[in-house]
Amino acid sequence: MRFETVVNDTASSSRSNAQPLVSLIIGDSPRMVELKRLVKIVGPSLATVMLSGETGVGKDIVAQDIHRQSLRSGPFVAINCAAIPAELLESELFGYEKGAFTGADRARMGRFEMSNGGTLFLDEIGDMPLALQSKLLRTLENHCIQRIGGNREIKLDLRLICATHQNVERMVEDGRFRADLYYRLATFPIKVPPLSERREDIPALLEALMVSYLERQPGALAPRFSPAAVEALKGHEWPGNVRELRNVLERAFVLFAGQEISGRNVVENLLRLRLPEANAQAENDALWEAAATFGGEVAELPETITQAALPSPEDFRLWFRHNDEIDLRGFIRDVEVVLIEAALAAKDGLVSHAADALKLRRTTLIEKMKKLMIERPNLG
Ligand SMILES: Nc1ncnc2c1ncn2[C@@H]1O[C@H](COP(=O)(O)OP(=O)(O)OP(=O)(O)O)[C@@H](O)[C@H]1O
Ligand SMILES: [Mg+2]
Repeated sequence: MRFETVVNDTASSSRSNAQPLVSLIIGDSPRMVELKRLVKIVGPSLATVMLSGETGVGKDIVAQDIHRQSLRSGPFVAINCAAIPAELLESELFGYEKGAFTGADRARMGRFEMSNGGTLFLDEIGDMPLALQSKLLRTLENHCIQRIGGNREIKLDLRLICATHQNVERMVEDGRFRADLYYRLATFPIKVPPLSERREDIPALLEALMVSYLERQPGALAPRFSPAAVEALKGHEWPGNVRELRNVLERAFVLFAGQEISGRNVVENLLRLRLPEANAQAENDALWEAAATFGGEVAELPETITQAALPSPEDFRLWFRHNDEIDLRGFIRDVEVVLIEAALAAKDGLVSHAADALKLRRTTLIEKMKKLMIERPNLG
């Protein structure tokens, strides 16, 4: 069985044209400026970097950038420990000699050797089996490996970057990750911040992701995000981080090709997958067509579809562009009634739990229920 190997030698190509290195990392929020500074400092060293952060925050991008900044002439080789069955991970990493096991009809180099002089990126290190963790520790201490079935020591010029979205410190406490390896790997820990802590980066990320979409699909008509749309994007929680933003943008290309997107569109059509009113059928077809070409990304859609989004208060600012009046008290009362009833239903009619869910005091909720004549749901 073969697994996808990411090998590229951007470092060697960027070295030859003596241009200042532009970071691959987009974002100028204080958190990202700090991150880029760390990457610049640690890049050229041989320190092992441990990247942590939620899913989709950009750990892969940061790893690639560290390799670029290192100016090491060898390739960047990535391996995802979670994607490879435990019993095959060892031979993928260390390679094997001919005849090492049934089926080893010729010798093969492992990822350690492939990355010699460059960088080895061990993604999802938390998924590495304990037995292999000891072998990895030995390799890091001795800077050499033996292929499986071989007895030759192969000396390596090794630089390692690891990443995980798991809490490895907790895994160490629970005995699921070797403490000595953890401390060896975390020489230079870097936490990549979630998108919700750097919302000001959203416009720049949107632009960069749009450019990369247009490079992949030249001729696609770009949607335009109105200021209200950008504000609505900034108001979202982004549990899937930049990857989720990229998915939302791809959806925007399908649903709003060449059109302006309003704040309401963001909330109703992009953060939730509801089709816009006009030409719903044509767009539905386009959506499925596009979904078919998204490949692996489609599997990630439910994460955001099930993410219920409330309209951003900012959306209401546009009300008087199209309307002359609104029954403000009536509208707010209706919103209160619906949310209180929904909370009571979700919490099996338990007022104190519903109050917690609404971030109200129990007595305040009871008062509101009396005033709005809301009864506890009949759960019998
Ligand atoms: N700062 C950034 N600049 C440009 N693109 C980014 C940035 N952060 C993330 N991306 C893009 O977002 C997507 C997800 O990023 P990436 O795969 O690096 O996340 P991750 O942290 O490795 O997630 P996981 O833990 O799920 O592996 C990629 O398409 C990547 O190109
Ligand atoms: Mg990753």
